[in-house]
Amino acid sequence: MSTPTSDPSTAANPQQPQHVLDVDDLSVETFHDVLADAANYEHMLAAGNPHRELPEHTLGMLFEKPSTRTRMSFETGMTQLGGHAVFLGPDATHLGHGEPLKDTARALSGYADALAIRTFDHAAIETIAAYADVPVVNALTDDAHPCQALADLLTIRETFDGFDDVSVAWVGDGNNVAASFAVACAMAGVDCTIATPDGHGLDESVLERAAAVGPAPTVTSDFQAAVSDVDVVETDVWVSMGEDDSKRDDFDGWTVTEDVLEAADAQFMHCLPANRGEEVTDAAIESDRSLVWQQAENRLHVQKALLVELLA
Ligand code: CP
Ligand code: NVA
Repeated sequence: MSTPTSDPSTAANPQQPQHVLDVDDLSVETFHDVLADAANYEHMLAAGNPHRELPEHTLGMLFEKPSTRTRMSFETGMTQLGGHAVFLGPDATHLGHGEPLKDTARALSGYADALAIRTFDHAAIETIAAYADVPVVNALTDDAHPCQALADLLTIRETFDGFDDVSVAWVGDGNNVAASFAVACAMAGVDCTIATPDGHGLDESVLERAAAVGPAPTVTSDFQAAVSDVDVVETDVWVSMGEDDSKRDDFDGWTVTEDVLEAADAQFMHCLPANRGEEVTDAAIESDRSLVWQQAENRLHVQKALLVELLA
Protein backbone atom coordinates (compact mmCIF):
# COMPACT_ATOMS: atom_id res chain seq x y z
CA MET A 1 0.00 0.00 0.00
CA SER A 2 2.85 2.41 0.80
CA THR A 3 4.61 4.21 -2.04
CA PRO A 4 8.36 4.53 -1.36
CA THR A 5 9.66 8.09 -1.62
CA SER A 6 13.25 9.29 -1.77
CA ASP A 7 12.90 10.91 1.66
CA PRO A 8 9.87 9.45 3.44
CA SER A 9 10.29 11.71 6.46
CA THR A 10 9.49 14.86 4.49
CA ALA A 11 8.27 14.04 0.98
CA ALA A 12 4.65 14.32 -0.06
CA ASN A 13 3.38 11.37 -2.06
CA PRO A 14 4.21 12.12 -5.72
CA GLN A 15 1.68 9.62 -7.06
CA GLN A 16 -1.58 11.07 -5.88
CA PRO A 17 -4.59 8.79 -5.79
CA GLN A 18 -8.02 10.26 -6.54
CA HIS A 19 -9.01 12.38 -3.55
CA VAL A 20 -12.40 14.04 -3.05
CA LEU A 21 -11.79 17.21 -1.07
CA ASP A 22 -14.76 18.87 -2.71
CA VAL A 23 -17.42 17.68 -5.09
CA ASP A 24 -15.75 19.12 -8.20
CA ASP A 25 -12.77 16.83 -7.67
CA LEU A 26 -15.15 14.45 -9.47
CA SER A 27 -15.76 14.98 -13.17
CA VAL A 28 -19.34 15.91 -14.03
CA GLU A 29 -19.72 12.46 -15.60
CA THR A 30 -18.46 10.68 -12.48
CA PHE A 31 -20.67 12.89 -10.31
CA HIS A 32 -23.73 11.65 -12.22
CA ASP A 33 -22.44 8.07 -12.11
CA VAL A 34 -22.07 8.25 -8.32
CA LEU A 35 -25.65 9.48 -7.97
CA ALA A 36 -26.95 6.72 -10.25
CA ASP A 37 -24.93 4.08 -8.37
CA ALA A 38 -26.18 5.46 -5.07
CA ALA A 39 -29.77 5.02 -6.26
CA ASN A 40 -28.91 1.41 -7.17
CA TYR A 41 -27.40 0.72 -3.75
CA GLU A 42 -30.52 2.15 -2.16
CA HIS A 43 -32.71 -0.23 -4.18
CA MET A 44 -30.43 -3.22 -3.49
CA LEU A 45 -30.50 -2.49 0.21
CA ALA A 46 -34.30 -2.16 0.23
CA ALA A 47 -34.61 -5.46 -1.66
CA GLY A 48 -32.25 -7.20 0.74
CA ASN A 49 -29.72 -7.94 -2.02
CA PRO A 50 -26.16 -8.17 -0.75
CA HIS A 51 -23.64 -5.88 -2.44
CA ARG A 52 -20.34 -6.65 -0.75
CA GLU A 53 -18.14 -4.86 -3.25
CA LEU A 54 -15.35 -3.88 -0.85
CA PRO A 55 -14.54 -7.10 1.04
CA GLU A 56 -11.61 -6.81 3.46
CA HIS A 57 -11.35 -3.08 2.75
CA THR A 58 -10.85 -0.70 5.67
CA LEU A 59 -11.91 2.93 5.82
CA GLY A 60 -9.91 5.00 8.30
CA MET A 61 -11.94 7.87 9.76
CA LEU A 62 -10.09 10.76 11.38
CA PHE A 63 -12.48 13.35 12.87
CA GLU A 64 -11.49 16.59 14.66
CA LYS A 65 -15.16 17.57 15.12
CA PRO A 66 -18.28 15.78 16.41
CA SER A 67 -20.54 13.89 14.02
CA THR A 68 -23.76 11.91 14.11
CA ARG A 69 -24.72 11.28 10.48
CA THR A 70 -21.34 11.24 8.78
CA ARG A 71 -19.78 8.77 11.18
CA MET A 72 -22.77 6.45 11.27
CA SER A 73 -23.34 6.48 7.50
CA PHE A 74 -19.69 5.78 6.64
CA GLU A 75 -19.38 2.99 9.20
CA THR A 76 -22.70 1.40 8.21
CA GLY A 77 -21.86 1.77 4.53
CA MET A 78 -18.55 -0.03 4.91
CA THR A 79 -20.29 -2.87 6.77
CA GLN A 80 -22.86 -3.21 3.97
CA LEU A 81 -20.06 -3.25 1.38
CA GLY A 82 -18.38 -6.13 3.21
CA GLY A 83 -15.59 -3.97 4.63
CA HIS A 84 -14.85 -2.25 7.88
CA ALA A 85 -14.38 1.28 9.23
CA VAL A 86 -12.16 2.43 12.09
CA PHE A 87 -13.20 5.68 13.75
CA LEU A 88 -10.57 7.93 15.34
CA GLY A 89 -12.41 10.78 17.02
CA PRO A 90 -11.26 14.04 18.56
CA ASP A 91 -8.56 13.31 21.18
CA ALA A 92 -8.19 9.67 20.08
CA THR A 93 -4.87 10.09 18.30
CA HIS A 94 -1.46 11.62 18.87
CA LEU A 95 -2.42 14.64 16.74
CA GLY A 96 -3.47 16.42 19.92
CA HIS A 97 -0.02 15.75 21.38
CA GLY A 98 2.04 17.09 18.53
CA GLU A 99 2.37 14.26 15.99
CA PRO A 100 2.37 16.05 12.62
CA LEU A 101 -0.48 15.58 10.19
CA LYS A 102 1.91 14.38 7.50
CA ASP A 103 3.18 11.59 9.77
CA THR A 104 -0.36 10.62 10.72
CA ALA A 105 -1.38 10.58 7.05
CA ARG A 106 1.44 8.27 6.03
CA ALA A 107 0.93 5.93 8.97
CA LEU A 108 -2.83 5.64 8.36
CA SER A 109 -2.19 5.04 4.65
CA GLY A 110 -0.26 1.94 5.59
CA TYR A 111 -3.34 0.35 7.13
CA ALA A 112 -6.43 1.75 5.46
CA ASP A 113 -7.63 1.55 1.86
CA ALA A 114 -9.21 5.02 2.07
CA LEU A 115 -9.47 7.82 4.61
CA ALA A 116 -12.54 9.91 5.54
CA ILE A 117 -11.35 13.10 7.23
CA ARG A 118 -13.23 15.80 9.18
CA THR A 119 -11.08 18.80 10.11
CA PHE A 120 -11.52 22.44 10.97
CA ASP A 121 -8.95 24.01 8.66
CA HIS A 122 -9.31 22.90 5.04
CA ALA A 123 -5.52 23.15 4.72
CA ALA A 124 -5.27 20.24 7.17
CA ILE A 125 -7.12 17.84 4.86
CA GLU A 126 -5.02 19.12 1.95
CA THR A 127 -1.89 18.19 3.91
CA ILE A 128 -3.28 14.74 4.70
CA ALA A 129 -4.18 14.23 1.04
CA ALA A 130 -0.71 15.35 -0.06
CA TYR A 131 0.93 12.69 2.10
CA ALA A 132 -1.61 9.87 1.90
CA ASP A 133 -1.22 7.25 -0.78
CA VAL A 134 -4.83 6.14 -0.49
CA PRO A 135 -7.93 8.14 -1.50
CA VAL A 136 -8.92 10.86 0.97
CA VAL A 137 -12.60 11.84 1.21
CA ASN A 138 -13.65 15.08 2.85
CA ALA A 139 -16.13 14.29 5.64
CA LEU A 140 -16.50 18.08 6.29
CA THR A 141 -14.04 20.90 6.75
CA ASP A 142 -14.64 24.57 7.46
CA ASP A 143 -14.72 25.10 3.68
CA ALA A 144 -16.56 22.14 2.15
CA HIS A 145 -18.88 19.18 2.69
CA PRO A 146 -18.93 17.23 -0.59
CA CYS A 147 -20.59 14.08 0.79
CA GLN A 148 -23.49 16.21 2.00
CA ALA A 149 -23.74 17.86 -1.41
CA LEU A 150 -23.93 14.45 -3.11
CA ALA A 151 -26.72 13.40 -0.71
CA ASP A 152 -28.55 16.69 -1.31
CA LEU A 153 -28.44 16.28 -5.07
CA LEU A 154 -29.55 12.64 -4.83
CA THR A 155 -32.50 13.84 -2.73
CA ILE A 156 -33.41 16.43 -5.38
CA ARG A 157 -33.01 13.84 -8.15
CA GLU A 158 -35.34 11.42 -6.34
CA THR A 159 -37.92 14.07 -5.46
CA PHE A 160 -38.18 15.61 -8.93
CA ASP A 161 -37.34 12.51 -10.97
CA GLY A 162 -34.21 14.17 -12.32
CA PHE A 163 -32.83 17.69 -12.48
CA ASP A 164 -34.71 19.21 -15.42
CA ASP A 165 -36.24 22.61 -14.59
CA VAL A 166 -35.55 22.25 -10.86
CA SER A 167 -34.76 25.47 -8.99
CA VAL A 168 -33.30 25.71 -5.50
CA ALA A 169 -32.58 28.51 -3.07
CA TRP A 170 -29.94 28.32 -0.36
CA VAL A 171 -30.82 30.83 2.36
CA GLY A 172 -28.66 31.68 5.35
CA ASP A 173 -24.95 31.37 5.90
CA GLY A 174 -22.58 30.98 2.96
CA ASN A 175 -20.81 28.19 4.82
CA ASN A 176 -19.09 24.87 4.03
CA VAL A 177 -22.36 23.11 3.15
CA ALA A 178 -23.50 26.02 0.98
CA ALA A 179 -20.21 26.04 -0.91
CA SER A 180 -20.32 22.36 -1.87
CA PHE A 181 -24.07 22.61 -2.57
CA ALA A 182 -23.57 25.52 -4.98
CA VAL A 183 -20.89 23.65 -6.90
CA ALA A 184 -22.92 20.41 -6.92
CA CYS A 185 -26.02 22.23 -8.21
CA ALA A 186 -23.93 23.60 -11.06
CA MET A 187 -22.64 20.08 -11.84
CA ALA A 188 -26.24 18.85 -11.93
CA GLY A 189 -27.41 21.80 -14.04
CA VAL A 190 -29.80 22.89 -11.30
CA ASP A 191 -30.86 26.55 -11.16
CA CYS A 192 -29.42 27.68 -7.83
CA THR A 193 -29.80 30.94 -5.92
CA ILE A 194 -27.52 31.60 -2.96
CA ALA A 195 -29.11 34.14 -0.61
CA THR A 196 -27.06 35.28 2.37
CA PRO A 197 -27.01 38.37 4.59
CA ASP A 198 -24.35 40.89 3.60
CA GLY A 199 -20.94 39.77 4.79
CA HIS A 200 -21.84 36.07 4.87
CA GLY A 201 -21.72 35.21 1.17
CA LEU A 202 -19.74 32.51 -0.59
CA ASP A 203 -16.15 33.22 -1.55
CA GLU A 204 -15.72 34.44 -5.10
CA SER A 205 -13.48 31.40 -5.74
CA VAL A 206 -16.38 29.05 -4.96
CA LEU A 207 -18.67 30.91 -7.38
CA GLU A 208 -15.98 30.69 -10.04
CA ARG A 209 -15.61 26.95 -9.48
CA ALA A 210 -19.38 26.53 -9.80
CA ALA A 211 -19.43 28.54 -13.02
CA ALA A 212 -16.62 26.34 -14.36
CA VAL A 213 -18.73 23.17 -14.08
CA GLY A 214 -22.25 24.37 -14.93
CA PRO A 215 -24.72 27.25 -14.73
CA ALA A 216 -23.40 29.92 -12.35
CA PRO A 217 -25.42 30.41 -9.16
CA THR A 218 -27.42 33.62 -8.72
CA VAL A 219 -26.22 35.53 -5.68
CA THR A 220 -28.42 37.84 -3.61
CA SER A 221 -28.92 39.21 -0.11
CA ASP A 222 -32.72 39.39 -0.63
CA PHE A 223 -34.31 36.52 1.32
CA GLN A 224 -37.86 37.07 0.02
CA ALA A 225 -36.81 37.32 -3.61
CA ALA A 226 -34.75 34.13 -3.29
CA VAL A 227 -37.62 32.04 -1.93
CA SER A 228 -40.46 33.54 -3.96
CA ASP A 229 -40.59 30.92 -6.73
CA VAL A 230 -38.39 27.87 -6.14
CA ASP A 231 -38.86 24.12 -5.84
CA VAL A 232 -36.50 23.67 -2.88
CA VAL A 233 -35.40 25.88 0.00
CA GLU A 234 -32.29 24.67 1.80
CA THR A 235 -30.61 26.15 4.84
CA ASP A 236 -28.13 25.25 7.57
CA VAL A 237 -27.12 26.51 11.00
CA TRP A 238 -26.09 30.14 11.25
CA VAL A 239 -23.05 29.33 13.40
CA SER A 240 -21.01 26.34 12.28
CA MET A 241 -18.80 24.19 14.49
CA GLY A 242 -15.88 26.23 15.75
CA GLU A 243 -17.35 29.63 14.80
CA ASP A 244 -18.03 32.62 17.03
CA ASP A 245 -21.60 32.78 18.40
CA SER A 246 -21.84 36.54 17.86
CA LYS A 247 -22.34 35.88 14.16
CA ARG A 248 -25.89 34.73 14.95
CA ASP A 249 -27.10 38.33 15.32
CA ASP A 250 -26.64 38.96 11.60
CA PHE A 251 -29.37 36.48 10.62
CA ASP A 252 -32.50 38.12 12.05
CA GLY A 253 -35.33 37.60 9.54
CA TRP A 254 -33.63 34.64 7.82
CA THR A 255 -35.71 31.88 9.44
CA VAL A 256 -37.40 29.40 7.08
CA THR A 257 -41.01 29.05 8.22
CA GLU A 258 -43.94 27.00 7.02
CA ASP A 259 -45.37 30.20 5.50
CA VAL A 260 -42.22 30.66 3.42
CA LEU A 261 -42.48 27.09 2.13
CA GLU A 262 -46.23 27.38 1.46
CA ALA A 263 -45.86 30.67 -0.41
CA ALA A 264 -43.20 29.19 -2.67
CA ASP A 265 -44.86 25.76 -2.81
CA ALA A 266 -41.35 24.48 -2.02
CA GLN A 267 -39.77 21.45 -0.37
CA PHE A 268 -37.42 21.99 2.56
CA MET A 269 -33.88 20.65 2.94
CA HIS A 270 -31.29 20.90 5.73
CA CYS A 271 -28.14 18.84 6.25
CA LEU A 272 -28.81 18.57 10.01
CA PRO A 273 -28.22 19.06 12.86
CA ALA A 274 -30.77 21.93 12.92
CA ASN A 275 -31.25 24.66 15.48
CA ARG A 276 -35.04 24.81 15.53
CA GLY A 277 -36.26 28.34 16.13
CA GLU A 278 -33.20 29.83 14.43
CA GLU A 279 -32.65 28.98 10.76
CA VAL A 280 -35.86 26.89 10.60
CA THR A 281 -38.99 26.61 12.68
CA ASP A 282 -40.02 23.36 14.30
CA ALA A 283 -43.22 23.39 12.21
CA ALA A 284 -41.32 23.76 8.93
CA ILE A 285 -38.85 20.96 9.58
CA GLU A 286 -41.66 18.65 10.76
CA SER A 287 -43.96 19.57 7.86
CA ASP A 288 -44.87 17.39 4.87
CA ARG A 289 -42.60 19.61 2.80
CA SER A 290 -39.50 18.55 4.71
CA LEU A 291 -37.08 16.14 2.99
CA VAL A 292 -34.55 16.11 5.81
CA TRP A 293 -34.82 12.43 6.79
CA GLN A 294 -34.54 11.25 3.19
CA GLN A 295 -31.60 13.63 2.82
CA ALA A 296 -29.90 12.19 5.94
CA GLU A 297 -30.43 8.60 4.78
CA ASN A 298 -29.03 9.46 1.37
CA ARG A 299 -25.66 10.11 2.98
CA LEU A 300 -25.37 6.33 3.32
CA HIS A 301 -26.16 5.60 -0.32
CA VAL A 302 -23.94 8.28 -1.89
CA GLN A 303 -20.94 7.50 0.31
CA LYS A 304 -21.15 3.81 -0.56
CA ALA A 305 -21.22 4.71 -4.25
CA LEU A 306 -18.34 7.13 -3.81
CA LEU A 307 -16.17 4.60 -1.95
CA VAL A 308 -16.79 1.94 -4.58
CA GLU A 309 -16.00 4.49 -7.29
CA LEU A 310 -12.68 5.26 -5.60
CA LEU A 311 -11.71 1.75 -4.53
CA ALA A 312 -13.34 -1.07 -6.44
N1 CP B 1 -24.86 16.57 8.10
C1 CP B 1 -23.79 16.13 8.80
O1 CP B 1 -22.65 16.06 8.31
O2 CP B 1 -24.10 15.73 10.05
P1 CP B 1 -23.09 15.24 11.18
O3 CP B 1 -22.29 16.43 11.63
O4 CP B 1 -23.98 14.69 12.26
O5 CP B 1 -22.17 14.20 10.62
N1 NVA C 1 -22.24 24.00 8.69
C1 NVA C 1 -22.32 23.01 9.73
C2 NVA C 1 -22.65 21.68 9.15
C3 NVA C 1 -22.71 20.54 10.13
C4 NVA C 1 -23.01 19.23 9.46
C5 NVA C 1 -21.00 22.98 10.50
O1 NVA C 1 -19.95 23.00 9.83
O2 NVA C 1 -21.02 22.93 11.72
